[in-house]
Amino acid sequence: MMRQSLVIANWKLNGNLKLVDDMVSALASARCSADVVICPPAPYLAALETATQRLNIEVGGQNCSVYSNGAYTGEIAAEMLAEVGCKYVLLGHSERRALFAEDDTLIAKKVQLAQQAGLTAVLCVGETLQQREAGKTLDVVKAQLSAVLNDVDFNRLVVAYEPVWAIGTGETATPEQAQEVHAAIRQYVATFNTDAASKLALLYGGSVKPENAEILFAQDDIDGGLIGGASLNTDQFLAICSAVKG
Ligand code: PGA
Repeated sequence: MMRQSLVIANWKLNGNLKLVDDMVSALASARCSADVVICPPAPYLAALETATQRLNIEVGGQNCSVYSNGAYTGEIAAEMLAEVGCKYVLLGHSERRALFAEDDTLIAKKVQLAQQAGLTAVLCVGETLQQREAGKTLDVVKAQLSAVLNDVDFNRLVVAYEPVWAIGTGETATPEQAQEVHAAIRQYVATFNTDAASKLALLYGGSVKPENAEILFAQDDIDGGLIGGASLNTDQFLAICSAVKG
């Protein structure tokens, strides 16, 4: 079964118009068999969308509101992301869960709104170091998934496994650790929908770098990556994109 190979750049609260230009020029001359998505801070979405129109690169939001419209100062609706050309939106990132108190119920609602707006929701799941050391990794990840999977459009879903202890720390899950969780995620998704599980793009995130990308992406159940720090550097990001199998 051929699954989508995908590399998603998550710029977080970084970047500027110069990075938009530099990244688009670099990607324009690159050869990459994976689909590439860039999620910049929201003010740069329109510029990025315009600059990538003739390229095989999609644009995504880093978050969306749990509301569709109204008096919610500072919020951005899923429909608005779609209107400016986004095809994807990251949801449930561990930084949103930890720093902005997003819980599974809220995340599930956002996934629904995003999918109704026509976006593909990139649902991020992952355990903390404490949870891993307590042997709870799979329980945590399954709970995060089950909150969403009961009422989801599997055709507009990507799951990113991002162990919290590996995000921005320079510490990466070993290929074996990552593959073990990815295989468990796919099996768990199969209990909701077998066909969807075999087609689901499952990404690994957490300190992916050019040096470890190829071995991570070579694992059976790893279909690509969600890249933070290394997606801010054109050389590093291109090297990661070209490490995807397929
Ligand atoms: P990192 O971030 O690559 O800097 O670890 C990944 C992420 O948070 O999505």
